[in-house]
Amino acid sequence: MNSMLKKTILVLGIETSCDDTSIAIIRGEVGATDRRPTILAAQSFSQETLLRKWGGVVPEIAARNHTLKLTPLLEQCFQDSALKPAQIDLIGVTTHPGLLGPLLTGLNHAKTLALFFEKPILPVNHLYAHLEAIHLTNPISYPYLGLLVSGGHSLFTLVTSAQEFSILGSTLDDAAGEAFDKAGKLMGLGYPAGRIIDQLAKEGDPHKYKFPIGLQRSADTMMSFSGVKTSMRSFLEKNPSFIHTRAEKAQDESFSQEIKDLSASYQHAIVSALTLKTKYALKKAAAMGHANIPIVLGGGVACNSYLRKELQRLFPSVYCVEPQFCTDNGAMIANYALRTASLKVDFPGCLKMDARGRFVDKAYGRKSDRQ
Ligand code: KG4
Ligand code: ZN
Repeated sequence: MNSMLKKTILVLGIETSCDDTSIAIIRGEVGATDRRPTILAAQSFSQETLLRKWGGVVPEIAARNHTLKLTPLLEQCFQDSALKPAQIDLIGVTTHPGLLGPLLTGLNHAKTLALFFEKPILPVNHLYAHLEAIHLTNPISYPYLGLLVSGGHSLFTLVTSAQEFSILGSTLDDAAGEAFDKAGKLMGLGYPAGRIIDQLAKEGDPHKYKFPIGLQRSADTMMSFSGVKTSMRSFLEKNPSFIHTRAEKAQDESFSQEIKDLSASYQHAIVSALTLKTKYALKKAAAMGHANIPIVLGGGVACNSYLRKELQRLFPSVYCVEPQFCTDNGAMIANYALRTASLKVDFPGCLKMDARGRFVDKAYGRKSDRQ
């Protein structure tokens, strides 16, 4: 366990919180906040195609698939990096939040490796890791305003260090990713739909149809995305011809201009809500003594090209996590473990999982976060 004291360490990251099995090995300096780690190997398996027929994530099926994929992906990473498990200094594994079955598969693999090779483990909060993934490409300094938008979460947080995250606002109901996925399902676009709506919207008119901007009139950081989804449902009930049908898909996957306009208009409402609320989140951070701080955009929905463009157009200092590190990935988990490597977490005290996660916990290594 003395390896924790070394300056340059090798970290293995394991991510299985939802439907992506993802592993990475990185090399980086402990405590080096101004330098990017090097990714030595990264392997992922996305269950998107497998889960499409169920129209969403089925935890039990996702967990079984993780079990099948973890060992081959791990082996591939060691082969790609020409490293042996014994050379790893630290294992970072997602322990919260996420689906319990899937979390358990990754954690069990991490535990087995840790016991066999006598390596320390750090439990990783998936949400912190999404935002801190910015350091994989841009070593920016603290504090920053984090905008985390994923399939299960949408929130603003003031990040003052790798372990200190204070929530400034969040969604009251659906997450932004859910709003994309649920509307996509209703539109006949399959699961998950964020990426395809983003693509279709590129050729559509964002002002063609009017969708509500969640909590537009409340001058605060609270968000809501269930209204816009319901509004899409009503729209499609009145205009069923807009639903992309199987027959169309079988022909050539071509999409009508109406669907492109509908996608662009719907996306516009979600992005407008996020940019509007970002303004209030910055104000709130300023009132807490952190004026003019940069914004970091992370999480799966941060891949959205329109959201990235709009944030960069409206605010002076915006850093978007690179798309390859936005959706769930092992590199962000390894990176977060590296950034918190100096926190000593005793084995096996760190191994408690938590489906909900405790984002508001300030000190990540604190007892409450690992018992
Ligand atoms: O972070 P992530 O991979 O998993 C969770 O932790 O939830 O996020 C997945 C979400 C899905 O809802 C997916 O539709 C959305 O990210 N997403 C996008 C785009 N790419 C992925 N949403 C909008 N535009 C995209 N380009
Ligand atoms: Zn995620």
